[in-house]
Amino acid sequence: MKNIAVVGYGVIGKRVADAINIQDDMNLVGVCDVINDWRIQNAVRKNYDIYAATTEAEKEMKASGISVKGNLQGLLKKTDLVVDCTPKKIAAKNVETYKKNNIKFILHGGEKHETTGHSFSAENNYQSALNLNATRVVSCNTTSILRTLTALKRADLLDYARGTLLRRATDPWESHLGGIMNTMMPEKEIPSHQGPDAQSVDPDLDVITSAVKVPQTLSHMHYWNVKLKKEASKEEVLNAFKTSSRIKLIHYDQGLVS
Ligand SMILES: NC(=O)c1ccc[n+]([C@@H]2O[C@H](COP(=O)([O-])OP(=O)(O)OC[C@H]3O[C@@H](n4cnc5c(N)ncnc54)[C@H](O)[C@@H]3O)[C@@H](O)[C@H]2O)c1
Repeated sequence: MKNIAVVGYGVIGKRVADAINIQDDMNLVGVCDVINDWRIQNAVRKNYDIYAATTEAEKEMKASGISVKGNLQGLLKKTDLVVDCTPKKIAAKNVETYKKNNIKFILHGGEKHETTGHSFSAENNYQSALNLNATRVVSCNTTSILRTLTALKRADLLDYARGTLLRRATDPWESHLGGIMNTMMPEKEIPSHQGPDAQSVDPDLDVITSAVKVPQTLSHMHYWNVKLKKEASKEEVLNAFKTSSRIKLIHYDQGLVS
């Protein structure tokens, strides 16, 4: 049984915590954050042990009636591996603490590949992650690129791929702060970072991406031009996608309109 801690109980962290909680060989030792609002209350309801990342946060959590088990250092003493789900750049700072305490760690797409030296996508490079001290789970956009292109590659269909990504501008609960409205913001650089990021998992992928930020809060949309190695029927392409347990195909006639 391995003791796993989740640092950062946000969009990603709450899902990771639930996933750890249902594994037979993992014990969720606690979740650590700086918030004291409705988001952490979900962890309280689930009876997860709550830890505060800073002294200030600990005071505020206690003032809000949250039973705090301790601080980050205390949590790390019980931990074999940390899944750090804090926002961009915070995890990169925490890494020094994890290394000092000799604790394995997993970071997320907001951090650079160099922070761990290994970038991970389960259906692509699970084997090369075994026994490492650290890895980085690539972002949602990069994950979808890898899942789809790897499925085509496994079927020996993929030659190269060029994609345009329509990216949601912000999270729903921050849309009053920094959202964009009635506009689209193309990224100036081509390739956008997602193509090279996919290559940090699979350097052999011939992939180029460009990206546009669009004024909505849910989901990203990708359009791809893919050159196949050989002529293939629609069935062959769909069968290639069906080899992935993480791709869901939806018929328009099932009511998908937007
Ligand atoms: N949201 C997505 O769709 C998405 C998709 C793929 C990858 N990612 C990546 O996952 C990581 C987490 O993103 P998210 O969307 O879950 O962010 P989020 O903002 O929803 O959650 C981050 C959590 O970390 C907490 N936090 C902030 N500072 C902290 C600190 N010092 N110590 C402990 N906790 C702290 C915040 O309070 C918050 O609860 C980022 O690297 C992001 O790039 C996010």
